[in-house]
Amino acid sequence: MSMETTAWMQLHSVMTAQQERRPFDRATLRRIAAFARPYRGGIIRFVLLGVVTALLAVATPVLAGHVVDAIVSGHDTGTVERLSLLIALVAVVEAALGVLGRRLSATLGEGLILDLRTAVFDHVQRMPVAFFTRTRTGALVSRLNNDVIGAQRAFAGTLSGVVSNLVTLLLTLAVMLTLSWQITLLALVLLPVFVVPARRMGGRMARMQREAAALNADMGTRMTERFSAPGATLIKLFGRPEEESAEFTARAARVRDIGVRTATAQSVFMTALTLVSSLALALVYGLGGWFALRGTLEPGAVVSLALLLTRLYAPLTALAGARVEVMSALVSFERVFEVLDLKPLIEEKPDAREVPEGPVAVEFEDVRFAYPAADQVSLASLEEVAVLDSRGGSEVLHGISFRAEPGQTVALVGSSGAGKSTIAQLLPRLYDVDEGTVRIGGADVRDLTAGSLRATLGMVTQDGHLFHDTVRANLLLARPAATDEELWDALGRARLGEVVRSLPDGLDTVVGERGYRLSGGERQRMTIARLLLARQRVVILDEATAHLDNTSEAAVQEALAEALEGRTAVVIAHRLSTIRAADQILVIEAGRIVERGTHDELLLADGRYAELHRTQFTEVTTP
Ligand SMILES: Nc1ncnc2c1ncn2[C@@H]1O[C@H](COP(=O)(O)OP(=O)(O)O)[C@@H](O)[C@H]1O
Ligand SMILES: [Mg+2]
Repeated sequence: MSMETTAWMQLHSVMTAQQERRPFDRATLRRIAAFARPYRGGIIRFVLLGVVTALLAVATPVLAGHVVDAIVSGHDTGTVERLSLLIALVAVVEAALGVLGRRLSATLGEGLILDLRTAVFDHVQRMPVAFFTRTRTGALVSRLNNDVIGAQRAFAGTLSGVVSNLVTLLLTLAVMLTLSWQITLLALVLLPVFVVPARRMGGRMARMQREAAALNADMGTRMTERFSAPGATLIKLFGRPEEESAEFTARAARVRDIGVRTATAQSVFMTALTLVSSLALALVYGLGGWFALRGTLEPGAVVSLALLLTRLYAPLTALAGARVEVMSALVSFERVFEVLDLKPLIEEKPDAREVPEGPVAVEFEDVRFAYPAADQVSLASLEEVAVLDSRGGSEVLHGISFRAEPGQTVALVGSSGAGKSTIAQLLPRLYDVDEGTVRIGGADVRDLTAGSLRATLGMVTQDGHLFHDTVRANLLLARPAATDEELWDALGRARLGEVVRSLPDGLDTVVGERGYRLSGGERQRMTIARLLLARQRVVILDEATAHLDNTSEAAVQEALAEALEGRTAVVIAHRLSTIRAADQILVIEAGRIVERGTHDELLLADGRYAELHRTQFTEVTTP
């Protein structure tokens, strides 16, 4: 790569780096040091390598000077041969060390990526559901990718950029000064003439580049929005195509203008850099030649100075941009640490125990709960708002108490928004209560291990989620050791066997986001199949059959009845058959239990339940 291109890239990275100007605390530096600690040996070797490389880089011009002196002093062919052999040797060693250095810095950088990435992934995985309901997935993934890579790049860049450039610069300057301090100083005076306007131009370019990036992003969203079938339909029905085109053209034209100006600026920059170093070179030859003719300087020294000069400007420009680079490295590290510092609201206690053996009871005792405020669970920068909402959500559950004996089924009914799903989510600790206690088998769920809770509780929600993976992988999530036979059995009982058999690759068909699209009802039956596979002791059904039509519901009900057999269950349902079969019915309204009893008792009481019974519940028509 030519000196000019390297210098331009350096200026460019200065331009595009975030222009952060705030001080960094020592704590961040200490934490970076902690991450770098395992790589101590590698870093020391890298710095040493940098010093050796810089020494070799200075050696060639000095040797070349000696060659010229040997020629001028005449006759001694042996010296010239030896010197040129030495120059060749230096070149070979330099090349080898170059590869070695690159390998070493890549090993350090990639190792750091690995460490940061796994740390963030582990941490994010432990965050509560509330965190994910608040966070924009895109922002989070970008934190995992871009910032981690940014941190690595800046770390390696700072190491190789600052350390080796500084050593090269100091050595080159030192050698030049010993050869001729007058010429060196004069050559350096020329530098600011070039660097100062270049940096000023850099700022303007950065603003334009950001504008271009924003315009490009905007055009991108416009195109994806308008070129989708629904968007295109909307434009055809209501749009004003001429105005749309005009607006689009204006943006595209601005991007063109910026492109032209960037190209011009780049060429001006490169030309200026070449010009300045050529002028400095003329100065070295002119002044050096004059000194040499007067006998105060060896002719070889003039050649050495000229060669050294060409190696001076690249590290100078690089170091001029180093401050911004170090800053953006620190910003990336801070953004990664910010995620690592987020305390998971729900954590397993260090002395957590297992769920007691055997059939277990489920118990709520005076439970009060409000959804956590945004600033408790998330980061402003991940939600792309300036400040997080610190208002706690208003209380959703106001003192819920009930008990399902081992093997009993409790049905929750009530209007939508009453708090039924919220009650269900407190059992597997998707959220923790604010007051009161949730118990399983007599133990507070907060004292139990996450693993044993997962093994004890099975939950089917209204919208069963499938990973973008095969049917088999999605099912094995529930029981990794299950055989194909067991999978088919569960699918059959969830009335999904026919559907999966008709898929192009059967169990190996990829379903989910971009895979084969299962319908809402089919997805729900998949989650029911998962439940049948996992065979947990406590079952929670949150409108588990809401997306099924009456015919398939009747069939699935049988499977569910089987799954509930002998198990403790909390069932949220609006189908009369399910509710009627429950040992106890709780009517929930506005976060309170307003009625409780069996179907017959509640009908007799002729209260809210009787009203729901008349208006909301649907009867399954058995085929
Ligand atoms: N993630 C959430 N964050 C804040 N409020 C929520 C959240 N989920 C539900 N709510 C609120 O909690 C209340 C109870 O909701 P939910 O338990 O889902 O009702 P149901 O299942 O009985 O229809 C509603 O007022 C709802 O707006
Ligand atoms: Mg609900």
